[in-house]
Amino acid sequence: MKKMTSQELRKNWIKFYEDRNHVNIGSSSLIGDGTTGVLFNVAGMQPLMPYLLGKKHPLGTRLCNIQGCIRTNDIEEVGDSKHVTFFEMMGSWSLGDYFKEERIKWSYELLTEVFEIPKERLATSVFAGNEDVPRDEESALLREKSGFKKENIYFLPKKDNWWELERGPCGPDSEMFYITDKPACGLNCNPSCDCGHFVEIGNDVFMQYDKVDDNHYLPLNNKNVDTGWGFERILAFLNTNGDVYLTDLFENTIKILEEASQKKYGESEDSTCQMRIIADHIRTSVMLLGDEQHLVPSNVGAGYILRRLIRRAIVQTKKLNISTNVFNEIAINFIDNVYGNVYANLKESKSFILDELNKEVVRFERTLNSGMNDFYKLIKNLVTNGITEISGAQAFKLYDTYGFPIELTQELASEENLNVDLEGFKLKFKEHQEKSRGNDKKIFKGGLAGTSDIEIKYHTATHLLNAALKQIVSKDIHQKGSNINSERLRFDFSCDHKLTDDEKNKVQTLVNQWIKEGHVVKCDEMTKEEAIKSGAECMFLDKYPDIVTVYSIGNFSKELCGGPHVKNTSELGEFTITKEEASSAGVRRIKAILKK
Ligand code: ALA
Repeated sequence: MKKMTSQELRKNWIKFYEDRNHVNIGSSSLIGDGTTGVLFNVAGMQPLMPYLLGKKHPLGTRLCNIQGCIRTNDIEEVGDSKHVTFFEMMGSWSLGDYFKEERIKWSYELLTEVFEIPKERLATSVFAGNEDVPRDEESALLREKSGFKKENIYFLPKKDNWWELERGPCGPDSEMFYITDKPACGLNCNPSCDCGHFVEIGNDVFMQYDKVDDNHYLPLNNKNVDTGWGFERILAFLNTNGDVYLTDLFENTIKILEEASQKKYGESEDSTCQMRIIADHIRTSVMLLGDEQHLVPSNVGAGYILRRLIRRAIVQTKKLNISTNVFNEIAINFIDNVYGNVYANLKESKSFILDELNKEVVRFERTLNSGMNDFYKLIKNLVTNGITEISGAQAFKLYDTYGFPIELTQELASEENLNVDLEGFKLKFKEHQEKSRGNDKKIFKGGLAGTSDIEIKYHTATHLLNAALKQIVSKDIHQKGSNINSERLRFDFSCDHKLTDDEKNKVQTLVNQWIKEGHVVKCDEMTKEEAIKSGAECMFLDKYPDIVTVYSIGNFSKELCGGPHVKNTSELGEFTITKEEASSAGVRRIKAILKK
């Protein structure tokens, strides 16, 4: 196998396709644009959806790139040698241009000539067919003709050999696998098995359908090819026997962690796993903060995932017994030495990235401290009542509210001679996971209900409206209700009279003035008591967790709120009140719209 650095791998991929008349389209944002209903780009094809469905791409019918992707559904698996939450997908596409023959021939050339992987190490899977789509004999024959050994070609069912997202372009695929030194787990071991004998390195999707609802597929006019190979996976097979964290992408990061902890990577399972989690999560956080859309940690949607990543990394520093100061050094290394030349945004937003990372660390350390207070209150209570065990529900509450990992709770409990009901905790955890998976699905289906770009704008506009009403009409005005969709905002507020035309005009003018002035929307995390003390508008306080976020705009608006919001009021466009009417006794209702 050919050893190569990450930079060489990048160059080799692009050159291979440019030599075959593909145009390099570069990487798009990591964050979904709201149209596909997913929070992040999970595959290189995602930004190309309209073109795979038939729209003409301005750069032609043969494209390639290396696209940054985020997948966090396996976040709990990070810690082994191959799982990562940010990864790059090396992609190439035919938009109604070539089909299976060229695709399969080139894949084999890449595998054996560019990467010099011995053919004995290669396996492939092809679609076994179902009542709607025939068995893909053609791909199997082409794979064999290209050089794959017949005994290493597997026909697998739709669950393994069909690529689709919730909606959109899809079709049967044919994956390529590396056969590792790990023996097969049994006679029936095949590439769908996760025993470690086969590891996937690439996927060629033959996109011929548009999934229009859960059970309906329409044929596409064009037959496309969507190819995606895992950059980190291949780099690791070529260089480090499959350990992604030993590749040059992570080399300095691991050194920083070794130095800080005075432990060697690989020396013990626990510390190696802790180093990998920190390395992975800080890398992903840097990429998200530095993305062209500049995600920031928050309590919802993509921002919440970012928050979780940073917090999980912080918890690992406690276990590894090192200070969170390493984050800064690790982030600087990723920006300056590893990705700065690949993702131009990173260098431009270096201080923003470091600053936001640091802010989240400060916030969470405060949260952890208040968690400790609650923990000791709980212990005191148990001891007074002669109870010797922390229940699953109590341990889960510490996890859910303060991010206490179960190991931390167990450790603290044993210092107090108490047990933790681990089984009970696991049960609660599972219940929660099932619930949040259900919610994720809903988010997916509903196209990010409540958090599309325009809805985020309406959300911030609602805060401005609330503040303007207080200034112009009465400081005693408070929110009674709010409803936002992509067409308009609706805001109900306490008020004893119908607004006059003059009041309405002044409110509208003031909101537009604030929009024009371009105020930053600031987000701080604090306890509920601190929020009240800070003078924030705290409606519906009991609906919020103990630690809350407070959004402030200029010196005129401060509200306890889960977000999300725009970063700057200048993003909102022109604000117009379209209606003012009675809602119920003592409550008025305003509807308003934003125009570009
Ligand atoms: N879209 C295909 C995948 O992600 C290539 O596997």
